Order: sequence, then C-alpha cells, then structure tokens
Amino acid sequence: MLILGLNMFHADASAAIIVDGEVKFAVAEERLNRHKHFGGFPALAIKACLEAVGARISDVEHVAVGQDSDANLAKKVQYALANPAKILNFIRMRQRKEAMRDVRSLIAKALEVDLSQLKFQEHHLEHHIAHIASAYYCSPWEKAAGFSYDGSGDFVSTMMARCEGSEIEVLDRVFLPHSLGSVYTMICEFIGYSQYGDEGKVMGLAPYGTATFVKEIRKIVAPKNSGFQLNLSYFKPLGSNQGMQVLADGTVRLARHFSDRMEKLFGEPRRLHSDITQRDMDLAYALQHRFEEIFFHLLNQLHKRVPCDDLAIAGGCALNSVANGKLFDTTPFRRTYIQPAAGDEGLAIGAALHTYHSVLKQPRRHELKQSYLGPEFSDERIQSSLQSAGLQYRKLDRASLLDAVATQIAAGNVVGWFQGRMEWGPRALGNRSIVAHPGLPNMKDVLNARIKHREWFRPFAPSILADYQHEYFEHDHPSPFMLHVYKIRPEKRKDLCAVNHVDDTGRLQTVTREENPLYYELISAFHRKTGIPVILNTSFNENEPIVCTPEEAIDCFQRTRMDVLAIGSFMAVKPGREQEESLAASSARKDV
Ligand SMILES: [Fe+2]
Repeated sequence: MLILGLNMFHADASAAIIVDGEVKFAVAEERLNRHKHFGGFPALAIKACLEAVGARISDVEHVAVGQDSDANLAKKVQYALANPAKILNFIRMRQRKEAMRDVRSLIAKALEVDLSQLKFQEHHLEHHIAHIASAYYCSPWEKAAGFSYDGSGDFVSTMMARCEGSEIEVLDRVFLPHSLGSVYTMICEFIGYSQYGDEGKVMGLAPYGTATFVKEIRKIVAPKNSGFQLNLSYFKPLGSNQGMQVLADGTVRLARHFSDRMEKLFGEPRRLHSDITQRDMDLAYALQHRFEEIFFHLLNQLHKRVPCDDLAIAGGCALNSVANGKLFDTTPFRRTYIQPAAGDEGLAIGAALHTYHSVLKQPRRHELKQSYLGPEFSDERIQSSLQSAGLQYRKLDRASLLDAVATQIAAGNVVGWFQGRMEWGPRALGNRSIVAHPGLPNMKDVLNARIKHREWFRPFAPSILADYQHEYFEHDHPSPFMLHVYKIRPEKRKDLCAVNHVDDTGRLQTVTREENPLYYELISAFHRKTGIPVILNTSFNENEPIVCTPEEAIDCFQRTRMDVLAIGSFMAVKPGREQEESLAASSARKDV
C-alpha cells in the first residue's frame, strides 16, 4: 500500500512516501529547488518520492496532508471576532487554504497527468497531531507520552497526547495567541535574528549571557494550569497566522512580533549586522532559561497524565537540543524519541503514518532508526560530474578511501564528505557533511573563515562513536539525530576543543555501525590515528540548503576553501594541496 504524505503551503514544504507502513523516501522541497525553507507546493519532492519507489501517481492509494484548516475552527472564529482588525486577515487565510485544499488539481498539474489518473483517497490531519504522529509512529514504543510544540499550526502551539498502539489520543492543546515558539521568535527578532529558522543561532548565543533579565523575561510567559500563557502586552497584536507569511514564490517571512513595550524595557532592538552587546546575550540567556522552565513544567504536567518513561517529541521547538538534553534531569521521562525532521518538514511522514495506522488500522512494526531517506547517486553519475567540473580525482576502494580521508582530517584538513542517501531533516549526519579534526584549537575559525561564515558564537558539533559516549559526555541517552546537548567531561574537553561550546557542552551525534556503517568506519579510522573517537561534523553547504546532488557538492567544494572532497568512491584534492596531502599522509603514518 502506497501512501504519500505532504507538507505544503507551509514552511519547509516536503513529501514522503510510505510503502506498507515503512517510510521509504522523504525529502524537503528546499533541497531540490534550492530555495531555503521553501513554503510552497512540494512538486519536485512528490516526483522524487514516486521515482524512488518506482511508482506512478495512479498507484498511490492515499495522500495525507499534515494540515487541516477546519481543525479548531471554533477557536479561530472566536479569536477573529474578538479582534476585529484581524477578520480580514482571517478571511484571506481561509481563502488561501481553500485553494490549497484542491490537492488533486495541484498534484495533477505538478506531474502533468490527467485528473482521471488520480485514484487516491485524500486525508487532512491537524498540524500537531501530524507532528506527534511523526515521532510516535517512528519510535520503537507501543505506549508513550506525545508532545508537540512550535510557533503555530492549525491555531495551536502546543499539544499533549497519550499514544498507545495505533492511536494518538489528544489530551490538551494550547491555542494561539499563546505560543512558546512565538516567545522565542519574538526575542530572537528583538536581538536582530529575524529570519525564519534563526532560533537555533540564539540558542547558541545564550550561554554567553548572564541571568540579568531572567526575572523580566519570566513576566512574558508564565505557567498556567497544565499549560502556559503569554503576557500579550509584549507582543504586536497577533493575527491568526502568528506573523509568519508564505509569499507567492514560497519564501517564508516573519512579521515583527515584539511590541513597543520591549523597547521601553530593554532599549533599541539590535539591528542585523551590528555588534552583539552584553544586553543581547543576556536576553538570549534569559529566553533560553525561561523556555526550558516552561517546557519542563509542561512535560511534568504531561507525565502526571501519562505516567510512563517514554516521550515522543516533535514540532519546531523540539529542535531545541539544549532543552532536550536537560529534560532527563528535570522531568520523570527516561527516554525520548525525536524524529530527525522534528520541524515542519516532518509533517509529511506524520500525516502518512497516521493514515496508515490510525485511519486504516494497520499494525505498527516499523521503527525509524536512521535519517538517510533522501536521494542517492551512483558512482557513474558522480564520476561524470567530477569530469564535467574538470577536477583531478582518484578512485579508491573502501578501505583506502577511509584511510585517506581519516589521514586528511588528522592532518588538520577540511573534508567534504558526500556519501549515500541524503539525510532527512535539518542536520547533516554523515552523508552530506563537512568533517574536520575536533581537537585543533583553530579549527572553528578555519571553518568559518574558509567555508561556513557563521556567527562567531555558534558551535560546531561532534559525531562520536556511540560506544565512547559515556567516556566523553556526562549523559548516556543516545543522540542519533544530533538533537541533544550534553556536558563534555572535563578531562576530554581539550581533545574536543573545536566542538566544545563556551558552557562546555556539545550537540552530539552518536553513531552506530547499524545506523551508518561507512561513517562509523570513518570515525573509527580517525580514532585509530589520533586516539579520539570523535570528528567535527557540520553541514555540507555555504549559506544555502545542504547540498543534495554531486554537482552541488562539487560546486561548493570549488567555490570555498575546502581542502578535500570525498564523494562516493572518489577523492579530489584542491590544486596546490597535493603536496600537503602526501606530507599529511606520511606524518599520519608515523603517528600510527
Ligand atoms: Fe509545526
């Protein structure tokens, strides 16, 4: 049975295809059309899904969309009537969503087929149920607490659920305008990070701050019963879209969230590209601190209603890996499952899996253990791309490639590592990664100066052989999708200085042979050469969506000052670095 899942006309549009309950292929449209966070119709992603499983759209029996404009309609109407200025906006959104609901026409047009070929049944699922479904149905559990939180979706910002067998029972919702995601976005905007998806940057800035504004920020959002509420005087009046707009070309844009009260209390908002002051860092600190306090309050409330060890989390705020890393010490939950695409692209698999299990009553048997659900490319295609680009390259067998790349990393060179199927979700997890030595003090600056050009305060992440997690980090819970931040043990901080954040933490990826054998062996080869079972892993891109195709990887390699490209079975070294390569190889051999 083929089910196509979609996230469309919403940030991070995506498509996923499941075959007899198993997610076979999933991709965000931004990776294919190269338009970051694209929020239009995922036409290319749908084509890629069908191609990957060798199916035609006429073979698809169900199409599920992770959005339902009729969900919570009474609440929306109630809010619009109480806020007359927003009624026009509300009507416009309804009209847009009505147009969006013509899924058949949109698919037929995208695939250039006649409507009569489309046999599928159509399903629309409320945004946050799709989020929770994306986590729970991919988890190994038969029973769990479900939690989803973000800016907003179908007029809800937070959902709590009891998940058991094939069912997800919604226990509670927090409706707009109360939204923890909006609090985060509002303060991010105030300190100059106003692009969609900037929240992760501010999470990295927070540890540079002090507790100066914690008391003030607590006034913005407070716990209320099993939920929370905002003090709306700090916000611009909220429309039913919470200030997020998707433009006609699919660009996602945020409107200003903060009110004049923020300026009266904290002074002028920071302008983009101006210096970051202690005030900005202190606001980031207080924001992260308060976010965590409310998050843990919500989880503790949820645990009272669903007393169990296991927690399935999703929604854009579930990408807050700092909060995820602390919840084991602050709530009774002992295990988490957070699907790699915890944000809105994940709605596609959530909607599809919900249709399979909850609507069609099919049993659960599939656990998503790895994130490699995207496109892959043959060595023939890669070789032809290398030739077209005029690159000098060598073909190596697996053992030689691993040894050569590990030697390069050990020698301090920066390697583009392009292998196998592209990752699903926002993190590069060893298939579309740039890898480097985690123990060289200047490596962060080298990466930023040569390739990434990121803000100085943003940390790079470590990939660690799972067997060594306990030796290096102060927490044992696995983090296969780089969604937990833990303290690095004091005695290991020197070895990991390039990935050790200012508060001595790392957003780690735990790697097992089962999840990614080639990447596991690369880290093992580096471990043999240096004694460190960790490599620095950052996404393979330069201010663009993560590379998807060999051509995009080669282009990124050529236009940046990356030293080496390891792509499929091939290795290319930048002209002028061949000598360094042989020197590096000989010095590394001496180390063994
Ligand atoms: Fe969402």
